[in-house]
Amino acid sequence: MMVMSNRIYLDNSATTPVASDVLHAMMPYFRDHPGNASSLHASGRSARSAVEGARQQVAEGLSVDSREIVFTSGATEADNLALLGTALRSTSGGHIITSKIEHDAVLHASQWLAARGYDVTALDVDEFGRVSADSVREALRPDTLLVSIMAGNNEIGTLQPIREIGELCREHGVLFHTDAVQAIGKVDLPMDVIDLLSASAHKFHGPKGVGFLFVRRGVKLTPMQHGGGHEGGRRSGTENVPGIVGLGAAIQLALQEREAVVDRMLGFRTRLIEEVLKLPGTRLNGHLTESLPHIANFSFQAIEGESLIMKLDEHDIAASTGSACSSPNLEPSHVLVALGVPLSMAHGSLRISTGRQTSNEDIDALLDALPIVVEELRAFSPFKVGG
Ligand SMILES: Cc1ncc(COP(=O)(O)O)c(C=O)c1O
Repeated sequence: MMVMSNRIYLDNSATTPVASDVLHAMMPYFRDHPGNASSLHASGRSARSAVEGARQQVAEGLSVDSREIVFTSGATEADNLALLGTALRSTSGGHIITSKIEHDAVLHASQWLAARGYDVTALDVDEFGRVSADSVREALRPDTLLVSIMAGNNEIGTLQPIREIGELCREHGVLFHTDAVQAIGKVDLPMDVIDLLSASAHKFHGPKGVGFLFVRRGVKLTPMQHGGGHEGGRRSGTENVPGIVGLGAAIQLALQEREAVVDRMLGFRTRLIEEVLKLPGTRLNGHLTESLPHIANFSFQAIEGESLIMKLDEHDIAASTGSACSSPNLEPSHVLVALGVPLSMAHGSLRISTGRQTSNEDIDALLDALPIVVEELRAFSPFKVGG
């Protein structure tokens, strides 16, 4: 049986297609240069030089030192290493500040720490999903070990005031981590006030299963994986050479193309917001302007988000209700709940996320299909729009 992929892919916050140039850069490292980057022979040396070349590409992209980049299996691992690695340095517990709308990789890691005696403050957000720097200031304590606030939210796109929060942490001598998975290559990152930053290649047209943690020079972490002492002893395990090469190529491409791609994305977002909000019983979740350019999240009254996704799928359009990681779970999104979106609306969410390959025609197709699909689903709904 042939499996058809969606013709129109608007779920780029979940993952992106690998760019051809990225794939091209990776290919030789699957077969022609099979060496282990720790081996001394020529094949090993060529793998090592590819890994170090990619590390340099990432470092240049962020304007940091290449020794500050630790390759990981993705952002879940990078987030866990940042939180657990910092917290476990303390032998007497301590306090961690985060927000209610973090990705599960941060939320669940902080809950794991809370279950082991650490104090965790998960800050509230406003109706647009913004954490205020003042709320971070009020939550800081003498025993605060780490503040972890994401740069841009993966479900609703809202940007956080991470420069302000980072400066505040600096003033108080507290480490600041940001999950920049969705923000990398889309917005400027204030690296001068960030101590730890997580990213994942598959969110910017690189391969899945590879990411990195930026660890500012001098910041000490307890490693989570023990073994051969790779990555300067911070993350043991044979390096994923093709993946790391792909990550380097992808970040370089994202930064080269950034202006043009972000411009297109902003145009798509503006158009989506204008057109979707013309439909009755809809709302935008997130901030109109303080947002990542590639994400627009809407709620539809009297509709289940999952049904909407399945109906759009019948029209060959791939979208999402929110976080891909929580898609199989029919609980309303913790992000929308934290924003105070009424439960009936939180269940009817649709996240459209664009990528470098998205075209005007893709947006046209979605905007043609959406009113039809919404009307079909509402015809069967026991709830009334506006009721
Ligand atoms: C904000 C954010 N953080 C972390 C992750 C986890 O990244 P990975 O898939 O590389 O583990 C994701 C992916 O959905 C994300 O969007």
